[in-house]
Amino acid sequence: MKKIIFLSILLSFITAKAEDAIKSESGTGASVRSNLSAELQNGKKKAKAICSACHGIDGQAASGGNSVIIPNITAQHKDYLIARLKAYKAGKIQHDQMTIIAGMLSEQDIENVAEWYSRIKIRIFDPNLVLSKPSQ
Ligand code: HEC
Repeated sequence: MKKIIFLSILLSFITAKAEDAIKSESGTGASVRSNLSAELQNGKKKAKAICSACHGIDGQAASGGNSVIIPNITAQHKDYLIARLKAYKAGKIQHDQMTIIAGMLSEQDIENVAEWYSRIKIRIFDPNLVLSKPSQ
């Protein structure tokens, strides 16, 4: 009996991992699955409501036509995102937009959005390999 319980837990764990992988392949447009952590779900909601206007919901900045330079934050280390957001919030880094925005976030919001953006996975391409292809 114990073995069956163990196996079914293991199986559900593997299935959840596989679903994660499928999700990251299909982009971030799809809604967050309900079996993902509350932190991730709340992070996506906040990111959509506040951050996406500048950083995109996937963390790839859409700065076309914008006068300020907006950094991509996709796949950045969670600890780094938290540190930066706290530094803006505390006024240690001053920036016209981010100081105000970080001031609107609670400590929990900061954890949540950092979880969301740090969890988005990207593929790295060596510039030599990309540039060696004939241009079109
Ligand atoms: C109005 C546009 C705008 C919005 C909305 C916005 N940001 Fe930013 N963000 C910026 C700009 C511009 C910078 C660059 C600031 C600088 O040079 O210090 C920045 C910088 C950052 C950085 C630092 C990146 C680094 O590499 O140091 C983080 C982290 C960040 N934003 C997260 C967020 C999060 C999370 C949200 C939503 C809660 C958000 N931002 C909403 C414009 C925006």
